[in-house]
Amino acid sequence: MDQVNVGLCGLGTVGTGVVKLLQSHADEIKYKIGSEIRIKKILVHDIEKKRDVVIESDWLTNKPEDLVNNPDIDIIIEVMGGIEDTNLLLEQAIRNKKHIVTANKDLMAVYGQKLLRLAKENKCDILYDASVAGGIPIIRSLTEGLASDKIQKIMGIVNGTTNYILTKMTDHKLAYETVLKEAQALGFAESDPTSDVDGLDAARKMTLLANLAFKMEIGLDDVEVTGIRTISQEDITFATSLGYTIKLIGIAAIYEGKVEISVEPTLLPNDHPLAQVKNEYNAVYVYGEAVGETMFYGPGAGSMPTATAVVSDLMDVVKNIRLGITGNEYIIPQYEKQLKENNEKYMQYFIRMEVDDQAGTFQKITNIFTDEKVSFQKILQLPSNTEKLAEIVMITHKISKQQLINSRENLKGLDVVNEIISCYRVDGED
Ligand SMILES: NC(=O)c1ccc[n+]([C@@H]2O[C@H](COP(=O)([O-])OP(=O)(O)OC[C@H]3O[C@@H](n4cnc5c(N)ncnc54)[C@H](OP(=O)(O)O)[C@@H]3O)[C@@H](O)[C@H]2O)c1
Repeated sequence: MDQVNVGLCGLGTVGTGVVKLLQSHADEIKYKIGSEIRIKKILVHDIEKKRDVVIESDWLTNKPEDLVNNPDIDIIIEVMGGIEDTNLLLEQAIRNKKHIVTANKDLMAVYGQKLLRLAKENKCDILYDASVAGGIPIIRSLTEGLASDKIQKIMGIVNGTTNYILTKMTDHKLAYETVLKEAQALGFAESDPTSDVDGLDAARKMTLLANLAFKMEIGLDDVEVTGIRTISQEDITFATSLGYTIKLIGIAAIYEGKVEISVEPTLLPNDHPLAQVKNEYNAVYVYGEAVGETMFYGPGAGSMPTATAVVSDLMDVVKNIRLGITGNEYIIPQYEKQLKENNEKYMQYFIRMEVDDQAGTFQKITNIFTDEKVSFQKILQLPSNTEKLAEIVMITHKISKQQLINSRENLKGLDVVNEIISCYRVDGED
């Protein structure tokens, strides 16, 4: 197998990086896998568009069949995005016995398990390391480097846009809307930022990691998702004064065979490694039963970092073809999905509320929490900007989510509580 032929779907940010990497690192790649990689066709929307990379005149096409039905092509690299049409295109390619490398977390979070099964039936590989945290080899680490361990918890900053926004809000004391506009101007946020700021992008990535780590078929609907839109400058100031940094954290954890998975604003102690991850960078903290704590840090997106992950996957496929071991047996779930109930999810919470500034208020509030057996690690009481009102900020000890829900419900019926302004998870202290 002196030569392996590739069809590339997409020549945008990532696709251009892939072509550049295959050209500039051709010797190293050939030396490591023993085969030359040749691009045969590139699928794009607009074949007339000027491209930022050197390509041969007959490469570009706007017809998917030129790739998926092309008998000369061994491997399809999908870096064009999209879900429904892209899924059909890849299904067709797999039926035609083509191996797949993709960077598409949107597709993998929705159709990943179906595609993996189809690929296995057809003895094809489908690798997707670039779909989570761009240039950080986190999927590769879970499936290879940590393969012998039992993963207990994954905690990560897997969305660069929201981390950029929260870093600027914290370090420069800017409002959410101001930073979002700046991020859009710099290209760190999309013109429609919904999927990033509402946590959906991070949720998709966390399902991919949880599926691999816990070997269960965990879907997007299983993730409890809260985005960052409601985080205010006041929340950040209170968190800072108590020694915490607010980050959008994806958490997937397993205990006695039951999984909890969420993406939500989370307060981390300032000295926690994830609290130090700034701007558009990503980081994933993995706790394994045997290995203990490990952390993976790096660029979560960008042309060349993401291309690095894509081409490394491509090289693995070539090695697997050579060894005759394509088909990804180990990626198919091993266990029935079991999710934790609210009374089994234990964590600390930051609760901020506006209350009447009068004698007895504090007692009434603490009575509600005492009834639910909720105790506190830290409490602050401060005058509010509004006359006759005060703000109370509390950090609970570890309580169940059900205790929190019950306490919040009972607080609503209390005349001295004007508003529960915010309530966030606190993690990273154990
Ligand atoms: N950008 C990153 O840093 C990053 C990081 C990790 C993962 N990803 C994932 O990688 C994928 C690609 O992202 P990107 O940023 O490179 O996207 P992009 O810059 O928008 O490029 C998309 C490319 O695909 C082509 N294309 C899109 N839909 C097509 C269709 N239906 N038929 C034919 N061609 C089509 C476009 O053609 P034209 O050039 O003719 O318009 C373009 O070349 C996405 O799944 C994304 O989530 C991206």
